[in-house]
Amino acid sequence: MGISSTAFQKCINPDCGAEFDCGQALFKCPTCGQLLDAQYNWDKIEVPDKLNEFAKRWANRNNPLDFSGVWRFRELLNFCDDKYKITIGEGQTILQQNDAVAQYADVKPGCLYLQYEGLNPSGSFKDNGMTAAFSHAKMVEATSCACASTGNTSASVALYAHSCGLKATVFIGSGRIAFGKLSQGIEYGAQTIQIRGDFDDCMRQVQDVCTKLGLYLLNSLNPFRLEGQKTIMYRIIEGLGWEVPDWIVVPGGNLGNSSAFGKAFYELKQLGLIERIPRMAIINATGADTLTELVNEKKLTWNNGSVNQAIIDDYYAGLTAQNFSPHTCASAIEIARPVNLKKCLRAIDICNAVCRAVTDEEILDAKAIIGKHGLGCEPASAATIAGLRNLIAEGIIGSDERIACVLTGHPLKDPNVTVDYHKEKQGKFSNPPIEAPNDIDEIIKLIG
Ligand code: F0G
Repeated sequence: MGISSTAFQKCINPDCGAEFDCGQALFKCPTCGQLLDAQYNWDKIEVPDKLNEFAKRWANRNNPLDFSGVWRFRELLNFCDDKYKITIGEGQTILQQNDAVAQYADVKPGCLYLQYEGLNPSGSFKDNGMTAAFSHAKMVEATSCACASTGNTSASVALYAHSCGLKATVFIGSGRIAFGKLSQGIEYGAQTIQIRGDFDDCMRQVQDVCTKLGLYLLNSLNPFRLEGQKTIMYRIIEGLGWEVPDWIVVPGGNLGNSSAFGKAFYELKQLGLIERIPRMAIINATGADTLTELVNEKKLTWNNGSVNQAIIDDYYAGLTAQNFSPHTCASAIEIARPVNLKKCLRAIDICNAVCRAVTDEEILDAKAIIGKHGLGCEPASAATIAGLRNLIAEGIIGSDERIACVLTGHPLKDPNVTVDYHKEKQGKFSNPPIEAPNDIDEIIKLIG
């Protein structure tokens, strides 16, 4: 059966609802300009009756598609033929139960799980999305691609592009991305354009450039990228013995993950593969808290797809009037105009989600705790534990609920922030190196 009969693209705006073939590279509805979804004719796809049937794929993991933590769930993102699929072993990530981090957040032992996406080939969750988007790029015969990035998207794009022979151009805000990420993009061979501006400026430029030059756009506007990111939720369920947690906690930047997670749970419920949808907490940094402001203060909601655009326009006009540029130590989520805002509002509706913002100090302290007791993470990822701690204190999340926090990126992505915290900034949990003379007795004295 041809793929065109199983999947299609559809505008998320219910007043439009235009549909398009998956063979087109669109990224915005040509009819009304809203976001597009990948949608499926589920009755034409052989989806397993139970989620645990996916476990069988492990026995066949010498097949690269069964080894991939994304494609072993391929029936749930069935938009392209296997012959186009590009995989580099993404999604071999783990769900770690962590009682020491739980204690910091005042969660009961046995209840906190960390979904560690830093184990991906490029060191962040982005690879889940890129394997899907690059497969679509191959399907539409793209030869050149581009993205705007706060760093991780560019690293992942650069890695996948050279793995499958596409030319990659990445747009980054000058001085706005962490060194680990910059080093990856240039090492992996992407053409790197540093724009004198922030991420939101880069995002605007890259969309215009892609339209003018016909480049394949790899930001999370790309609906196929989000299909890959759904699998992070499948792996959390897998890690819990095919059970659904009570809460998912995720950092919010461009809001691709939160959007993808909401879609993942909606579809699983629709397919009868889960009985209930977990709640979600989306955590911004206070220096880049558009979502939290719009949802909590301006009361913006999905409203069955009729989102009150005037609230968004007013808010953005205010940012422009102040010449606002977001600032946080969590550079990955330093975004003021998140492109997936409306899809995220839909996910908030699906998951009965809450939004909160945490300070840089809270992020850095949580990061130190995750580093000391877990596998470590970059600052944006630590916003999850900082946010969780506050939500437990507020009584929104119960300390005996089962909680999965998504640690989106590897600790070595941003070594500067880590070293500053421990060495110069003397944070609450800092562990500074000790200067010692080149003398054995003195060294032994210091060790104590
Ligand atoms: N965590 C990390 C480590 C990220 O790199 C990002 C986004 C996020 C969280 C936020 O995820 O956009 O799905 O809400 N990084 C993008 C980039 C924007 O360009 O690398 P989101």
